[in-house]
Amino acid sequence: MPEFRFPVIGHGGDYNPDQWLDRPDVLEQDVALMREARCNLMSVGIFAWSALEPREGEYSFAWLRGVLDRLHAAGVSVLLATPSGARPAWMSRKYPEVLRVENGHRNFHGGRENHCYTSPVYRAFVTRMNTRLAGEFGAHPAVVGWHISNEYCGECHCELCQSAFRAWLKRKYQTLDSLNHAWWTAFWSKTFTDWEEIHSPEPNGETQLCGLTLDWRRFVSDQTVDFVKCETAPIRRIAPNLPVTINTMGFFYGLDYPSFADVVDFVGYDSYPMWGSKSDYDVALETSFTFDLVRGFLNKPWSLMECTPSQVNWHEICQLKRPGMHMLSCVQALAHGSDTAMMFQWRKSRGGPEKFHGAVVGHDMTNRTRTFKEVKATGELLETLSEIVHSETKSDVALIFDQANRWALDGAQGPRKDKDYFGVTFDHYRALSRAGVNVDVIDMEKPFDSYKLLVAPYLYMLKPGAAERLTAFVNGGGALVLTFFSGIVDENDLCFLGGAPGPLRSLAGVWAEETDALYDGQTHKMVMKPGNALGLSGAYTCGFLADLLHAETASVQAEYEGDYVSGTPCLTQNGNVWYIASRPEPRFLNDFYQALLPRAGVTPIVPSLPEGMIACRRTKDGRDYTFVLNFTGADAPVALPAGIDLAAGQPAAPNATLPKNGFAVIRTEQARG
Ligand code: GAL
Repeated sequence: MPEFRFPVIGHGGDYNPDQWLDRPDVLEQDVALMREARCNLMSVGIFAWSALEPREGEYSFAWLRGVLDRLHAAGVSVLLATPSGARPAWMSRKYPEVLRVENGHRNFHGGRENHCYTSPVYRAFVTRMNTRLAGEFGAHPAVVGWHISNEYCGECHCELCQSAFRAWLKRKYQTLDSLNHAWWTAFWSKTFTDWEEIHSPEPNGETQLCGLTLDWRRFVSDQTVDFVKCETAPIRRIAPNLPVTINTMGFFYGLDYPSFADVVDFVGYDSYPMWGSKSDYDVALETSFTFDLVRGFLNKPWSLMECTPSQVNWHEICQLKRPGMHMLSCVQALAHGSDTAMMFQWRKSRGGPEKFHGAVVGHDMTNRTRTFKEVKATGELLETLSEIVHSETKSDVALIFDQANRWALDGAQGPRKDKDYFGVTFDHYRALSRAGVNVDVIDMEKPFDSYKLLVAPYLYMLKPGAAERLTAFVNGGGALVLTFFSGIVDENDLCFLGGAPGPLRSLAGVWAEETDALYDGQTHKMVMKPGNALGLSGAYTCGFLADLLHAETASVQAEYEGDYVSGTPCLTQNGNVWYIASRPEPRFLNDFYQALLPRAGVTPIVPSLPEGMIACRRTKDGRDYTFVLNFTGADAPVALPAGIDLAAGQPAAPNATLPKNGFAVIRTEQARG
């Protein structure tokens, strides 16, 4: 499959000239301003179906050719979009099967990203459109890749989807007996005697059969992948050298993005943090977590496909990015492996729902705004950082975040309603980032062998082979962190028999006899045992969920105190495997990883990274690029590695002060070790 090898850092964003077809002067102004803002890459025509096929079978490509020619002449390249994210009204009216069915009703036309993924009619329209687009523009010199549709999401419950779901189930289970067993349908008399009795989970029907819900989520994700295959088939046939991407939504609930690995060549991500809603550092850490997750979908450089240059129009409070934050947050994406800094949107629409969404060019239509100037300054900076493009992120540490595990956890009734898988995994991410190391965020099917430390919190579900692979990782010398409520169910949400953590029991050397749930504010103490292997002392609080553990072969490193569980194990060590039985306060995880990382042979990128800063490293051709980002909200001192600060164009000062919202990108000639 082709690689996305844009030679410099991509800078630009969503560009919708289809909204301004009657204003050729606007295109001319756009091109001039793009050059001024150092924009070199635009995603064109994402929602342009009505302009491309105004009436069924009547295609109109001349305007798009004009735009592409003009951009190319100006040195601006294009990710050409397929327009399937929004349908023309004529199509919905004539072919209602393209509309989704929800709760037994077919939707009316409206909105976007809401077509049936199964509908043969919609697939045929998309195939025709994409065939024409690829034929017309697949060899156009401006086009460097395909932006397929927009933010795939949602599900349809029409009869076509029901049939496709049943076919998917037949492929998976072969027989109804095996499906009935996997879903444990003897419970509440749910046994199915005919495939036709199975219906997707909906509020007015079956919502409590965990196995059904879990398989439906998998089906929806797989059906979306299948739709992407349908979209890309003509493109790959006609323009096989052009890479394709989809713009993902990071921790979006509805799709299992790693399973798109075989159908896309690179991954885009649309990033809209709520800057200002809490400290910049807190927002930045969640953003970094998401960036590392997105990089982990394919384990290679990705693309920041959208971010606002100023404000969005859909948060509760649409705060403007403060001065300097646009540049810093773009550099943050690069630090975590993005090869682009793209925005939504180039120009504000004049009407419609997004007319107040931030854009490089506003309704004033000038280059005089603060936003334009910040974007231009960012563009100039990106040119100075150009050599980092295509560099890789090599991490000694991986954190598992697995979407099927998340779905299964959330589907489980008990031991508490809000499972907070994101929050629990983020606790660990935060402490690892605080320690200043690169972290890969991966699903449990990715290879583990390149890591020194694997953190697998809340591993409720174990997919086939996961326990064996974790065991092999530990036997190979890797350190593994496990936590409460792990090793509970198999991939179909059937509980393991024989005691938690199921297939991980001998690896962890513990038996979790029960899992207690604590009310908010209710805590236990974790008291470190004297002489514990990590050299920690004193007590920490923990809560949320608390396993009642028996240490079998593991040694006890900390014990609970404060309730009837006093004196029982709360942190154990079994060789290289650590088991944290409850959800500790952040202070514990900071101390724990500070102590564990050197034991696991992991060195920080920047020693003694100040709180509020984020450090990442990318590598290319034997060179390291160290990024240090100041999210402290103030000017702050930091010890930088020796090397050339690419942004400043001079050697980095060892004891530098990074200004508020400042950063350093340091090239070090000598590769480590
Ligand atoms: C994205 C979407 C864009 C635009 C943007 C606004 O999710 O892909 O089309 O709507 O949000 O922030």
